[in-house]
This record gives sequence, structure tokens and C-alpha cells, in this order.
Amino acid sequence: MKHFLTIKDLPREKIYDLLDRALWIKKQRAKMSILNGCCGVMIFEKPSTRTRISFEIAVKELGGYTLFMTPQDSQLGRGEPIKDTARVISRYAHLMIVRTFGQEKLEELAKYSSVPVVNALSDLYHPCQVMSDLLTIFERTNDFSKLKIAWIGDGNNMAHSWINAAMYLPFELYVSTPKGYEPRKEILDEAILNGAKIKFTYNPIEAAKDADFINTDVWASMGMEDDKENRLKAFLPYQINETLLSYAKKDVKVMHCLPAHRGEEITEDIIESERSIVWDQAENRLHMQKAILEWIFS
Ligand code: CP
Ligand code: NVA
Repeated sequence: MKHFLTIKDLPREKIYDLLDRALWIKKQRAKMSILNGCCGVMIFEKPSTRTRISFEIAVKELGGYTLFMTPQDSQLGRGEPIKDTARVISRYAHLMIVRTFGQEKLEELAKYSSVPVVNALSDLYHPCQVMSDLLTIFERTNDFSKLKIAWIGDGNNMAHSWINAAMYLPFELYVSTPKGYEPRKEILDEAILNGAKIKFTYNPIEAAKDADFINTDVWASMGMEDDKENRLKAFLPYQINETLLSYAKKDVKVMHCLPAHRGEEITEDIIESERSIVWDQAENRLHMQKAILEWIFS
């Protein structure tokens, strides 16, 4: 049985198969039956627009159906242990899609679950989003080997999944964050040890220079809003705006997993410009997640 808690759960040799398959699924938009009659239980401890809707539609278009619950309206919110919840849901459903805070909660669910568990975002990783973003790049370039991709902003869950992805594909990844907001050292070290071409810099211009794709994300992720005032000051030089983009390649594409805070991590004119591919990224959630579910159930 397979879980998808991080990109590292994918076998290395599967990555191009998955990208090709997601592209095929996108082109066909065919109804498939691999989840015929199956139920995916979705447990979301944080809000969501894209992840919830794209997974609900993906499961349905694969022949299954979903049940959505939040901890507040289940016994999880009253302290029922995760390991008990995992075993009970496993007796009813065929899949769990979970958005939560600690990665260790997902790991515990997966340990006690006898059905696959998918990470729909945790504080540490957002693997479904980054797989979809890889598809968004792949459908434009078909080749990662000559690309400079930049991550500019917070060293957060998205940054960590990008760092994981750099172990699998031959692009160069520049990561640039303010001091105090770096990605976790052990995640960076592991990736570099495994051949990822990653350069960390505090200088956003160095990251943006000659980049083919520039990624950013909110400066305060869900659950970190209390630190927002400090973050606004520290992150200002990392805003994706016309000045920063003037250092990148002429045909640079700008990426953001959304939701975006215009005037903070990205300016209105950039997100609305032709350089922005954020709507394709959002669409590709649906197609890539179908490919991931197909891999899990194959
Ligand atoms: N990008 C993303 O995961 O969006 P939601 O929080 O709306 O699901
Ligand atoms: N880093 C953001 C991503 C939102 C999809 C967060 O965790 O809030």
C-alpha cells in the first residue's frame, strides 16, 4: 500500500511517468474508473479552496466519491487519538486526504491506517501542489535540465517540497529567504546530499538573475499569522515585482500556489501579467492529483 506524505514517497524512476500521465489525463479529460465505488475521506484542519475542490472533483471523475470533515465536527476535535481515528476510517473508506499542521500527525495516521493517506498540505510540505507545479513547467518546456528555477520568499512548506523535487529532476533551484526564515537545514542538506542542484542565498536578486521560473508564496502561512507584522518588514525586499523581474530572463514565468496577497509577496501588475502562470498551476492540481491517485491505486 502506498501513502503520499511527501514527494520522497515517489520512486525516483516514477517522476517522468507521473508527469506524462498527468499530461495525458489533462488532454483527455476522460472519466476514469480506477476509484469505482471508492470513498475518499477528507479531513481538513485548515481552510482550502483549490485542494479541497480539485480533490473532490478528481476522486469523483475517477469513479469514487468523497466525505469531507473538519476536526471540529468530528471526535478528533474532542481529543480522540489519531491512531484510533485512522483505524476506524480504514474500516469504512478506501483513502484519506488530509490537511493538517504537524507532519507527524500525517505519519501517525499513515502508520495506523490500512488505506492510503495523502498529504493535502502540512506545515512541513505541500507535495500535491509542487507536483502540479512541476507539471505546469513540464508542459511548457518538456525538459528540466537547462532550467533555473527560483524560490523567493518564505522557507515554508512549499519551499520544502520544491527542495524535495530538486532531488528528482535536473533543474537548478535557487532558494532565497530573509535571515531567520530559511528552509529547514536538514531538508536542504538531505537534498544536496542526494544530488539536488540547490543554491541558497539571502540575496533575492541573485536568485532572480536569469531565472526561467520564479516561485513565491504568502509570507505568513496558515497558522503563522501572529508573526505577520515582523514578516511584512523582513520580506519586503523579496517581493516579486517589476524591479526584481528585470534581473530574470525576458520570458520568465512567475508562479504562486495561491491564495496570493497582492501588494505583499507579489504585485498586482505581475500576477495579472502574461508572465504569470498561476491559473495553469491551479488547474493542474486536478490533473496531477488524478495521476497521483492512479499511481497510489495501481
Ligand atoms: N494552493 C492551495 O493549496 O490552495 P488552497 O489552500 O486553496 O487549497
Ligand atoms: N504556504 C501556504 C500555502 C497555502 C496553499 C500555507 O501553508 O498557508
